[in-house]
Parts: sequence; C-alpha cells; structure tokens
Amino acid sequence: MTSTRGLEGVVATQSSISSIIDDTLTYVGYNIDDLADNASFEEVIYLLWHKRLPKEDELAELKQQLSDNMSLPQEFLNHFKTYPIDKVHPMSALRSAVSLLGLYDEKSEDMSDEANYAKAINLQAKIATIVTAFARVRKGLEPVAPRADLGYAANFLYMLSGKEPEEIEIEAFDKALVLHADHELNASTFTARVCVATLSDMYSGITSAIGALKGPLHGGANEQVMKMLAEIGSEENAEAYIQEKLANREKIMGFGHRVYRQGDPRAKHLREMSKQLTKLRGEEKWYNMSIRVEAAFTAQKNLPPNVDFYSASVYHSLGIDHDLFTPIFAVSRVSGWIAHILEQYENNRLIRPRAEYTGPGMQKYIPIEER
Ligand code: SDX
Repeated sequence: MTSTRGLEGVVATQSSISSIIDDTLTYVGYNIDDLADNASFEEVIYLLWHKRLPKEDELAELKQQLSDNMSLPQEFLNHFKTYPIDKVHPMSALRSAVSLLGLYDEKSEDMSDEANYAKAINLQAKIATIVTAFARVRKGLEPVAPRADLGYAANFLYMLSGKEPEEIEIEAFDKALVLHADHELNASTFTARVCVATLSDMYSGITSAIGALKGPLHGGANEQVMKMLAEIGSEENAEAYIQEKLANREKIMGFGHRVYRQGDPRAKHLREMSKQLTKLRGEEKWYNMSIRVEAAFTAQKNLPPNVDFYSASVYHSLGIDHDLFTPIFAVSRVSGWIAHILEQYENNRLIRPRAEYTGPGMQKYIPIEER
C-alpha cells in the first residue's frame, strides 16, 4: 500500500461538471475563457447544476428563484448580533450562518430531488445576503435588503455598499464570480463530496466545504495576498520583499497550484481586471506592485500566479474589505459545491480511503498502577 502526500495525482472520483486538462479549465466542456468573456454568473450556475446552458426562459426562471429567496428572516439577522461580531472572521461567521440556515429549513433532511433543488436555490440566494449583511452589521450599519430589479452580482455589491454599483463594477464582479464557480476536485469540493457521500444533508456538505475553503493554502490565499501587498507598500519594495521571503523559504500567497503547471488560466482575466479597476480608482500602485511581485517571484520559482493573486487587487478596487475576499470566493464556489453534491447523490458510494499505519506494533495493556 503506497500513499501519495496530499493525494497528489490521485483520481478520487468521476465527474462531468468541470475539467482541468493540460492546464485548460472547462465547465461542462465550455472553456473558461469563453465563459468569462460571454456568460453571466447566473448562466454558469444553471450550466453547473443542469450540465447545459439555459434557454432564455430557463435563465429568467433561475434569476427569479434566486431573487425570491435572497432575503434573510429578521430572527436570522438578530443571530449575528449574538456573536462577538467585531472579533469574528467573516469566514467563521459564514460557516456558522450556513449551518444556521439549515436549522431554519424544515426540509433540510428531505433528500428528494425537489427538496435538494430548493436547498440549492436557498443556499445560493442567501449566501450573498449573509456575507453582505454580516459585513454591515459588524460596522453597526443596518443590512441592505436585496432589490428585485438587480442581477446577482449587482445585488451583492448593492447590499454591501447600499449604493447602486457602476456598470464596470458589476461586469468585473460578475466575471470574478464566473471564474471562481467551480474547479474540479479542489480541497473544499472534495470535502463537500466526502461529507454528503455519507448521505448527510446539503447544509452539512456546504458548511464543511466553507471550513476547508477558509484555509490560506486554499481560498484564504486572496486575503493573504492583499495583506502582503499592503506590507510591501510600494512597487519599489517588491523585489527585496520577495527575495527575503524566499530566502526564508516562506510561501508567497497567490502563487503555485497543485494541478496547473504552465499557469492558471483564470489569472489572466483577473490581471486585466486589476489593471482596469486600479486605473479607474487612480490606485494603479496595487496593479503595478502585483506585476513587480509576479516578475520577482517567477524569476526565482517557476510557479505562475493562481486565481487568488490578482483577485486581491480587483476586490480591493471594488472597495471590498480584505477579510471579505474569501467569503466572496465562497459566494461563487457554492454553485460548484452544490453541483458536486447533486452529482455525488446521483451515483453515491461512501468515500472511505485507507491509511498506511506507521505506529507501534502490537502492545499488551498494562494496568495504570504498573505504568
Ligand atoms: C486555490 O486546488 C484548487 O483547484 C484550488 C483553487 C480552486 O479554484 O479551488 O485553484 C483555489 O486554492 C488556489 C491556491 C491558493 N493557495 C495559495 O496561493 C497558497 C500558496 N501556494 C502554495 O501553498 C502551493 O502552491 C499550493 C498549496 C497551492 C499547492 O501546494 P502543493 O501542490 O502541495 O505544492 P507544495 O506545497 O508541495 O510545493 C511544491 C514545491 C515546494 O518546494 P520544495 O519544498 O519542494 O523545494 O513548490 C514550492 C514548495 O516550497 N512552492 C512554493 C509555493 N508553492 C509551492 N514556494 C513559495 N511560494 C509558493 N506559493
């Protein structure tokens, strides 16, 4: 029995949702570049859940279902006020809030297709409201209710700021949601599948996935990238900073990937968005610094930027608090997690690998008075 560290290269299941082959990412066979340039996030949600692009009426129905389910009950919002809210990381709050969502859903244990679809809509719709409501309540602000006339990306930005977002902000945020929606068997998706493969419910699966995404080696990297850029301070400091970190054998957040070798195809879209949005804000330094960091790092390590590197300066340019970057990753990735949970239920078998035992051999029990 041989074990590979971190299951590197191990094919743990079959899936028809997304593929990463020779550094090309597709959702159900559609290249991520095509989807990033042409599809809305709602179209991608439909694609991931139904394995085909929607017709106009189907897309309109999905948008309506999401819009009808975005509001949070008052008792739910009151729950936020029971947390030590200014000390709680938004990802921890999201983990608890999604778990709470399950408590309010009387059909949470109903495993019928109809009930699971209703949970999917409930989770996808409310996760945006949970993140934005928490972000406001922790600052002593009232939550902003979603608007029926806004799409998903626009509603998120509106509920966060209370102001109608500009077209360029909506476009950028919608594209970021498309880019983060699914990614084959990444750690949080695998977590979700392992959880529901016991025939546990969708809320348990999503709660466990949020826990996995939270870590800085996975979704938590985008917040760490912004922290690093703030530490570097100016583009002139980039090279020295990277050299010092690498000399200390420290990991630079936003670079490297378990699967991609030539580069993460999503990074180029986010790099372009960062260039446009930082310029729009008159804060090109974040983009220029990122370019200098990428040059300094890749000059020493052949590890290209991943999805998290440029998303940091994109979200910063949208005026989003840095500790909300990973919750935004979850707002998008919940669509992929749900697709994988539905697929796991369709053709389920308990996921239970083996461990190679490396502990001591057989031992005889010794009564405590003789130890
Ligand atoms: C995401 O899996 C997915 O699909 C995830 C994701 C998705 O969409 O779901 O793409 C989203 O999580 C992207 C990754 C975000 N994480 C980071 O940016 C954190 C920094 N990156 C690294 O921690 C690392 O690259 C990982 C975690 C992403 C991948 O880790 P691996 O495959 O376990 O690689 P490793 O840690 O074993 O590193 C291999 C070598 C090591 O060098 P040696 O010790 O062999 O000399 O590469 C080096 C590492 O030190 N290395 C890095 C590095 N990443 C790898 N060195 C410095 N900085 C880095 N970022």
